[in-house]
Amino acid sequence: MTISMDDLVALCKRRGFIFPASEIYQGINGFWDYGPLGVELKNNIRDAWWREMVLCPPLGPDGDPLSIVGVDTSIIQNPRAWEASGHVGGFNDPMVDCRESKARYRYDHLQVLRHKSDPEAPRFAFLEGEPAPALKRIKKLARGKSEADFEQLPLSELPREEMPKVVGPDASTPGTLTEPRQFNLMFKTYVGAIQSEDSVAYLRPETAQGIFLNFKNVVDTSRVKVPFGIAQIGKAFRNEVTPRNYIFRSREFEQMEMEWFCHADEAQKWHEFWCERRATWWQRIGLRSDNLMMRPHGQDELAHYAREGQGTFDVEYRFPFTAPGFGELEGVAHRTDFDLKAHQEHSKIKLAYFDQERKESYMPHVIEPAAGLSRGVLALLCEAYTEDPSRPSKVYMNFHPAMAPIKAGIFPLVNKEGMPEIAHKLYAELRERHSVQLDVKQNIGKRYARMDEIGTPYCFTIDGDTAKDQSVTVRDRDSAGQQRIALDKVGAFLDERIRPG
Ligand code: GAP
Repeated sequence: MTISMDDLVALCKRRGFIFPASEIYQGINGFWDYGPLGVELKNNIRDAWWREMVLCPPLGPDGDPLSIVGVDTSIIQNPRAWEASGHVGGFNDPMVDCRESKARYRYDHLQVLRHKSDPEAPRFAFLEGEPAPALKRIKKLARGKSEADFEQLPLSELPREEMPKVVGPDASTPGTLTEPRQFNLMFKTYVGAIQSEDSVAYLRPETAQGIFLNFKNVVDTSRVKVPFGIAQIGKAFRNEVTPRNYIFRSREFEQMEMEWFCHADEAQKWHEFWCERRATWWQRIGLRSDNLMMRPHGQDELAHYAREGQGTFDVEYRFPFTAPGFGELEGVAHRTDFDLKAHQEHSKIKLAYFDQERKESYMPHVIEPAAGLSRGVLALLCEAYTEDPSRPSKVYMNFHPAMAPIKAGIFPLVNKEGMPEIAHKLYAELRERHSVQLDVKQNIGKRYARMDEIGTPYCFTIDGDTAKDQSVTVRDRDSAGQQRIALDKVGAFLDERIRPG
């Protein structure tokens, strides 16, 4: 069943996962803040990725552990780095402006409804996936015509001469949309006290380039040998023309990227290896395989750096707003030697690698699994949201226990008769290893309901029998079933169940 995004967004706000940025000033389009639970969920995904990539990388096809090191590079780099990488010249999206409403749209995100037989009828533009306002207009502006008389097509496929008949998504008269223009997505700023063309700098639109800029530093200072990887997690910024779908497409977001450097002859083998590994990783942190798909990019979608290689495979997730289709979660690209070569050319610093075993110098090829951490948070939230009218909360979040922001609630049944003391002692023991909450207020049903809504997998309740038989009740979030276990076994019970899959 497809969940309602409005309901999910409301829960995330109500329980402190995600808030609109600058909310008290009416927000700022394309920016979001993570609340106390959201930041825990995000950090859990981040830490699981870092563990998978850097602390305990997988075994390679020959059974040996892979070698991957981490870096944390500057968000602002020398602007020449972005000229070399192709972002100054080529990191563009086509956009159209509306002269009437002053709104700006991604050209490739606009669709139109066109009358099947009347060439004079207005064409109604709307944002892909959001046809409701355009359908309303058919009733208002296209007098006597009904929805069924219209066909849908992308605005880019509409013949040029029909553009004057297009009514923009927020306009009331036809012909107010401009011709598409290329719009560079990088945020510009100035470094230092003087604001001039010479002090322009950019906020990074991907974390990857910081890795290429440090390729030589890492080779010279650590003991890595090709094939090896360099990983980085951090913020990226894109001045998206139409940020939308909650945190799916925002202007500030986080990426988890790894550049895998290998010999050109082995690039295909590694590309296949990483595609497989990345798809299964998302399953291990809780996404269902039938909601995931690997999709090759079409030639027209390939980024400038991937055109010469074996292209890009996307790991896609069935988000509620793309269903029954899928939306990109991660790209696994063969970037060839495009970036190292470009930086060598622009910086005049030699970046070729000398391979001791092959006794040759070459420019390594790069396989890049580039995942969205923010999109990962959204995918896990969508996956976890489960309606259950039989529960007091009506909904629970069934996160994988390793990803859940809070692992357990500790509740004295009543706030007297020695129960709070035992609960405090258990809390003091568990908080050393896990994020747990002690809650002594409200009736027990309300406390369970709150934990269901925030996705806490276990609740331990100390009741009248605990002092007598040294046992507690464990309530399981998904089944809502309860069992009794020994008080001194609670720590081990939790340790065992919290491990990632
Ligand atoms: N270094 C390659 C690169 O940046 P990308 O496909 O442009 O490739 C990688 O971005 C991932 O970053 C995407 O798969 C997506 O998960 C995430 N991402 C990209 N743009 C985003 C945005 N505006 N908002 C949230 N996540 C985004």
